[in-house]
Amino acid sequence: MTIHESEMRVFLPPVALAERATVSSMEAYTAMCTAADEDYEGFWAKLANENLHWHKPFTKTLNESDAPFYRWFDDGRLNVSYNCLDRNLQHGNADKTAVIFEADDGEITNITYSDMHERVCQFANGLKSLGIKKGDRVVIYMPMSVEGIVAMQACARIGATHSVVFGGFSAKSLQERIIDAGAVAVITADEQVRGGKRLPLKTIVDEAINGDVCDFVRNVIVYRRTGGDVEMIADRDLWLHEVIADQPADCEPEWVDAEHPLFILYTSGSTGKPKGVQHSSAGYLLWAMLTMKWTFDIKPTDIFWCTADIGWVTGHTYIAYGPLAVGATQIVFEGVPTYPNAGRFWDMIAKHKATIFYTAPTAIRSLIKAADADAEVHPKKYDLSSLRLLGSVGEPINPEAWMWYYRNVGNEHCPIVDTFWQTETGGHMITPLPGATPMVPGSCTMPLPGIMAAVVDETGNDLPNGQGGILVVKRPWPSMIRTIWGDPERFKKSYFPEELGGKIYLAGDGAVRNDKTGYFTITGRIDDVLNVSGHRMGTMEIESALVANPLVAEAAVVGKPDETTGESICAFVVLKRARPSGEEARQIAKELRDWVAREIGPIAKPKEIRFGDNLPKTRSGKIMRRLLRVLAKGEQITQDISTLENPAILQQLKTVVTT
Ligand code: WT7
Repeated sequence: MTIHESEMRVFLPPVALAERATVSSMEAYTAMCTAADEDYEGFWAKLANENLHWHKPFTKTLNESDAPFYRWFDDGRLNVSYNCLDRNLQHGNADKTAVIFEADDGEITNITYSDMHERVCQFANGLKSLGIKKGDRVVIYMPMSVEGIVAMQACARIGATHSVVFGGFSAKSLQERIIDAGAVAVITADEQVRGGKRLPLKTIVDEAINGDVCDFVRNVIVYRRTGGDVEMIADRDLWLHEVIADQPADCEPEWVDAEHPLFILYTSGSTGKPKGVQHSSAGYLLWAMLTMKWTFDIKPTDIFWCTADIGWVTGHTYIAYGPLAVGATQIVFEGVPTYPNAGRFWDMIAKHKATIFYTAPTAIRSLIKAADADAEVHPKKYDLSSLRLLGSVGEPINPEAWMWYYRNVGNEHCPIVDTFWQTETGGHMITPLPGATPMVPGSCTMPLPGIMAAVVDETGNDLPNGQGGILVVKRPWPSMIRTIWGDPERFKKSYFPEELGGKIYLAGDGAVRNDKTGYFTITGRIDDVLNVSGHRMGTMEIESALVANPLVAEAAVVGKPDETTGESICAFVVLKRARPSGEEARQIAKELRDWVAREIGPIAKPKEIRFGDNLPKTRSGKIMRRLLRVLAKGEQITQDISTLENPAILQQLKTVVTT
């Protein structure tokens, strides 16, 4: 997606919103930044004391003795679920709606804070009855559901570390994660329902833990969502409703250290193997709460809706933890934006009177297309007057989509917070504050107070505004990744490389700051990571999946700009047999796409496949991805190709096979 650096339109926060906002002016924002600058630890200590309930208060704010393994609020003890639930019961929110759940078919269920507390306690007691205890890992492979959130909170309550795996991942991806995490139990559902279709979950779990590679998994707990036919394996599989039946509605929380791993969430990096991003308890929850207050300006009367899935970090921080910790009412949606038609989001905003709406640019772009094609699903057809704030997450939002969102969904009176962050950062990093920051479409504007983001060159030197470079964060912050589960060396190498001195966080994105405003614009990943529809994927992961197919000799995967999905996957493939053409090429391409879907998941399917007798390589045998990216875009190669071993190959690789 092109980012228009010349973008000059500026949109000011609405006065009425600013007057009541948590951060209500640029002066207030600057004052917070100054406070963080002047006394970094004091700044965070104060916020941690004001926002979290501590069972045992901390005495030390930041421990840097083992950098980059930073420790926050080290000697404090707390429980995340207690902070999210019990605290609300004590503060008069027992009968307040915590979750408005809307199922795929439109059925609505309201869950109060006291219901939520009871369900989490029962589930936690159920887990305990199976011998699951503090420090154990539990994999959650669930649909979007209240039960999914309850499962996460129940793990937090007993100090078990959860690892949620997105329901679109294949058995093989699931297995890889179960093994890496060493999970003692898997929580799943019989099936999930999306867009009127039932899709299997339990049978995928069975496939994943089949055989003895996962024999450390003692139990599979199954939520009955559809009543679909599943096989229950004796002594291993249990129905959720049976596990919780007769369990007491109270469960004393397990008080854990501030640094206790709340969860591991797998994400893609530059190499083939996904990274288990490990997050803490206290620092993570603190940032979830602060960003709910600062970025989303959350108020007791708000109806908050984040459309993410709990399988991604956005669904962790802005569904399972943040909204509950601040006592908000939130909408949780099981289905997809296009079912029964592409007006579903707008219909739900109107019906539930949502005030804050947070979604991904890909969704916006596909709904723009749908609204252009069918006036009936245009947002202007719905009463969206309840909205006061909009958010965007997961990928750059192009100014055209931003403007459409602003005009047609926000009716020109809702600020848009374009939130830049990552699985590793735990919560928002660079974003406008809705009551303070003048917004420029396509820019995530300024870092939140306490976040020392900067643009530097390869050796870590600051670059002047206007000059593109790499995005770093110069000081640790409470919700940062703690390590890569089981691989501390990879953690150091990936995020705190020696070239930058080993102590500053490398985000993996390029960025540039505006000459005049100092605003940040993210220019895209600087590693081999793709962002397709806001889903993060490593090119090497897809390449490994392709070469695992018996037909394939070699494969190279690159990203290609895509109008709707941001980027799309383009695979260049060399087969072990002669280069196919025509119908045969189409057949094999289809076979390979389905293969990748089975190996990783449907989100990793290459959109395009091109066959060649070889790949463009230097004389030393290195694949020239730079050229492949140009070919993928369908552009003329203007680069110097004199170092290329086999220039003739470029012509072949121009042919796209569509299936
Ligand atoms: C990568 C992180 C953000 C949580 C969900 C995705 C890209 C994310 C933005 C934004 C431009 C963005 C970056 C980042 N990204 N938000 N507002 N503007 N780019 O988390 O899967 O860990 O992906 O998404 O490239 O590194 P993730």
